[in-house]
Amino acid sequence: MKLLVTGGAGFIGSAVVRQAVRDGHEVVNLDKLTYAANLANVASVDNAPGYVFEQADICDRASLDRLFKKHQPDIVMHLAAESHVDRSIDGPAAFVETNITGTYTLLEAARTHWNEAGRAGSFRFHHISTDEVFGSLGEVGQFTETTPYDPRSPYSATKAASDHLVRAWHETYGLPVVLSNCSNNYGPFHFPEKLVPVVILNALHGKPIPIYGDGKNVRDWLFVEDHADALLTVATKGTDGRSYNIGGEAEVSNLELVQMICALLDARRPHNAPHSSLITFVDDRPGHDRRYAIDPARIRNELDWTPSVTLEQGLARTVDWYLENEAWWRPLLARQGVGQRLGTNE
Ligand SMILES: NC(=O)c1ccc[n+]([C@@H]2O[C@H](COP(=O)([O-])OP(=O)(O)OC[C@H]3O[C@@H](n4cnc5c(N)ncnc54)[C@H](O)[C@@H]3O)[C@@H](O)[C@H]2O)c1
Repeated sequence: MKLLVTGGAGFIGSAVVRQAVRDGHEVVNLDKLTYAANLANVASVDNAPGYVFEQADICDRASLDRLFKKHQPDIVMHLAAESHVDRSIDGPAAFVETNITGTYTLLEAARTHWNEAGRAGSFRFHHISTDEVFGSLGEVGQFTETTPYDPRSPYSATKAASDHLVRAWHETYGLPVVLSNCSNNYGPFHFPEKLVPVVILNALHGKPIPIYGDGKNVRDWLFVEDHADALLTVATKGTDGRSYNIGGEAEVSNLELVQMICALLDARRPHNAPHSSLITFVDDRPGHDRRYAIDPARIRNELDWTPSVTLEQGLARTVDWYLENEAWWRPLLARQGVGQRLGTNE
C-alpha cells in the first residue's frame, strides 16, 4: 500500500512512518516542518526504498493537489496538527488555521483524488485525533466512541472541529474515512516541551520539575510505538465510517507519573537521587481537564489490537532512550518557547 502520512516529521507521525516502512509500505511523508518537526525522527528510513519526504503545508491546496497527483496514495493518515495545549492558549490562531482549515483543505484535495477514475473502492482517509475532544471526566467512567464531544481548550476545540469535518465529508460526499481518538502518548522522539521529556531532561539537569496545580490530574498513557501500531491497524483494517478509541488502560495522576520517572532515574543515576526532590508545584493551566480515560473495547474486540508494553516498561524504555540520545534532544532545547512556561493566559 502507498500511505501519505501528514505530520510525519513530528512525534507520533514519525513513529507511524518508521513502522509503516518496516511493514513494507510505500510512504510519502508530508510535513510543513514547523517548530515541532524534526527530520532526525525519520533519519533511520531516509534511504529506505519507497520512502519519500515532501515539505508542504496542508493549508496549501495547490501543493496538495500536485502531491496527490504525483504519488497517488491508497491511504491518507492525517496527523499534521498544532498539538501543544499550552501554545493553543497563547496563540489559538495557528491551531484554527492548521487543525481546522488545514484538515478542510486536505479533505478537499483527498476528495478530488478519490473522485478520479479508478479510485472509488481503493482509497481511505484516516483522521488521527485525541481523547481531549471528549472533555473532562469525574472520578469514574471512561470515554467511548459515543461519548458526546465537550472540548475545553483551543487545541481540543480545533481537533473536535476537524473530527466533525471528517465525519461530514463521509456522510455528505461518501468519502471513505476512519477516525481514531487516542489518549496521551509518550516515548522516544517526544519534543521536549511535553510533560514526559520535560521531567526527564529537567531531572537530568538538576532543574525544578514543574507540576501543574495539585498534580492530581489523571491521564491514560500509551507508548507511542503501540499507538503507531494501532493506527496502522485502524488505517488498514478499520470499518469504513467508524471511529476507534485507542488507549493503554494505564491511568495515573501527573504526580504519580513524575514519581515513576524519578524512580527510574534514581536507579540509573543514583548519585543524583532522589530526583523527586526537584518536584515543584506551579500554577495550574487555565481550563486544565481533570481526568481522561479511554475505553478501548472496540479496537480490542473488532480489530484484535492491544498494547504490547505496560506503562512501567514503556517509561523505562523512554528514559533509557533519552539517556542515550542527547545528540537528538540537545539542539531542540534552543527552539522557540522550549523550557519556558507557556499557556498561563497572562
Ligand atoms: N501527543 C499526543 O499525546 C496525542 C494524543 C492523541 C492524538 N494526538 C494527535 O496526533 C497527531 C500528532 O501529534 P504529535 O504529538 O505527533 O504532534 P507533533 O506536534 O509532534 O507533530 C505535528 C507535526 O505536524 C506538522 N505540521 C504542523 N502544521 C502543519 C501544516 N500546516 N502542514 C503540514 N504539516 C504540519 C509539524 O511540522 C509536525 O511535524 C496530532 O493530530 C495530535 O492531535 C496526539
